[in-house]
Amino acid sequence: MSRPPKILVFDSGLGGLTVYSEIIKLWPGADYVYCADDAGFPYGGWKEPDLVARVTSVMAQLVGENAPDMVVVACNTASTIVLPALRDRWPQTPFVGTVPAIKPAAERSRSHLISVLGTPGTVARDYTQNLILQFAAHCRVTLVGSSLLAQLAEARMQGRSVCDEDIAAEMSPCFKEEDGARTDAVVLACTHYPLLIEDFRRLAPWPVDWIDPAPAIARRVDQLLREKGFEESFAATGQARAVFTSGARPDPQLRAALAHYGLVAG
Ligand code: DGL
Repeated sequence: MSRPPKILVFDSGLGGLTVYSEIIKLWPGADYVYCADDAGFPYGGWKEPDLVARVTSVMAQLVGENAPDMVVVACNTASTIVLPALRDRWPQTPFVGTVPAIKPAAERSRSHLISVLGTPGTVARDYTQNLILQFAAHCRVTLVGSSLLAQLAEARMQGRSVCDEDIAAEMSPCFKEEDGARTDAVVLACTHYPLLIEDFRRLAPWPVDWIDPAPAIARRVDQLLREKGFEESFAATGQARAVFTSGARPDPQLRAALAHYGLVAG
C-alpha cells in the first residue's frame, strides 16, 4: 500500500497516550487521530451496558469522520467489555484492544503473588476473571480497583499538583506479604497508570515488576498493519491530531503535554 495507514487511538482520557507513544515508535509515518472521550471520563464506574452503548456511539462518529484503517482501544475498562460489539459492527476494521497483562505477570512472578491494579470496572469484569483462571491459576492474585488513580494521572498531565499520599493510598493494597512471600509483580491494568510510574516506583514499599502492556500492543498493531499490506516509511511524517469529545479547547498546559507526544489539538 503506497499511502500511510490512518490509526485511531481511543481512550476515555489521556491514558491512551501511553499506548500511542509506543505505536508511534514503530509507525512514525502513520496518520493518527487520538480521541479522548473526556465527556464520558472516567469510565471506571460506568455500568457495563451503558459503557457499551457509549463507546459504540462515540466510535460511530469517529469511524464516520475519519475512516481509520485500524482502531486501538487504548483503554482496559472499555476493551474488557466492548470489543465484541465494535468488531461486530465494523467487521472490516481491525480493533486492537488493551486488556490486563495477567499472563506476562504470572509468567514473570517468582513469588506467585501478583496484583492487578485497574479501575473498579476492569477488576470486576468476567474478562479479567477468565484471564486469571486461564493464565494465573498457580498464583494468588489480588485485584485492586482504584476510583482515583486515573483522575490523578489526568491532573498530573494537565499540570495540576498531585500529592504522594493520594497515590500511595490507592496503590498500597497491591502490596501483600503472605507466608513469607511478597507481591513481586503488579499489572498496570489501566492505560493511565504508566503516566504515574515514577511515583509508583518511588512510593512502593518494595520494588516490584510493574507490567505495562503498551509495547506488546504496539507490536500487535505493527503485525496487523503489515498483514493489511502497509509498509512503514520512516522518512515520512504523518499527521497526528488529538480530539476531545467534550469539544473543550485544551488549555496551554494540556496543549504542551500533547505537543510532547507530537499531537496537535483539533
Ligand atoms: N484509561 C482507562 C483504562 O485503561 C480508564 C480510565 C477511566 O476512564 O476510568 O482502563
